[in-house]
Amino acid sequence: MPTLSPSHPHPPLASNAPLAGVSVKIDNVTLVRGNTPVFEALNLQLTQRRIGLIGDNGAGKSSLFRLICGLEKPTTGQVQVQAESSVGMMFQNPDEQIIFPTVEDELGLSLQASGLSRKAARAHARAWLEARGLGPWAERAIGSLSQGQRQHVCWLALLIASHSLLLLDEPFSSLDLPAQARLERDMASVSQHVIVSTHVLHHIRHFERVIWLDGGAVKRDGTGVDVCAAYEADVAARAQACGLTAQ
Ligand SMILES: Nc1ncnc2c1ncn2[C@@H]1O[C@H](COP(=O)(O)OP(=O)(O)OP(=O)(O)O)[C@@H](O)[C@H]1O
Ligand SMILES: [Mg+2]
Repeated sequence: MPTLSPSHPHPPLASNAPLAGVSVKIDNVTLVRGNTPVFEALNLQLTQRRIGLIGDNGAGKSSLFRLICGLEKPTTGQVQVQAESSVGMMFQNPDEQIIFPTVEDELGLSLQASGLSRKAARAHARAWLEARGLGPWAERAIGSLSQGQRQHVCWLALLIASHSLLLLDEPFSSLDLPAQARLERDMASVSQHVIVSTHVLHHIRHFERVIWLDGGAVKRDGTGVDVCAAYEADVAARAQACGLTAQ
């Protein structure tokens, strides 16, 4: 059984022409989840093709994604998404995303949204996997895949669909180093707008825009180089204050 790495060069994922008109406006949003206040009067306008989202555990990264894709409604304020087609979300936990028992069925689900029957969608998914050198994966049972392999299937399920905006919530977290490099390359080549949250800063340091969330508020918003450096300095200062730095 091959790995999830394509065994031969695969066709381009999509045209490199940027999709016009993707814009997300977070307008004075307050969000309370359960009893936890997550955001208070949050304002953001997101239009860049590549945006990184960083911050400590619990800072609000996944909550922001859930607001943008409509899984969460703001308690007050408005979330407006303007896009030519749908918003696709890659969940932090693959088991929250994957519904079907096999890889081809799961990828087929992404295609059914465009009106294909389940059978036709499955056949299309199989051919698409074949073209990427991943044919033997089509019939693999999801339950037989490792965590990282399931995470990769979630990315493939986004790629095969025709979303305008991709939200990737810690997509590198379970991937081995070759798979991280492949995902980084894929992300660079897709025409869709991408917002990605990660704790692995080198994947987003080169982005034109990175947002650092801290306790549900924007702590810094600017180029990847600037914002990642500021976050790293803050983490280092906190570690030093706790006596966690190496002598
Ligand atoms: N289902 C939930 N019910 C209530 N509160 C929640 C729920 N999910 C998250 N929270 C709270 O919302 C806040 C933001 O959590 P969120 O999951 O958005 O953080 P995150 O930045 O994605 O963190 P991580 O890096 O750990 O993934 C946290 O205080 C968290 O405890
Ligand atoms: Mg999260």
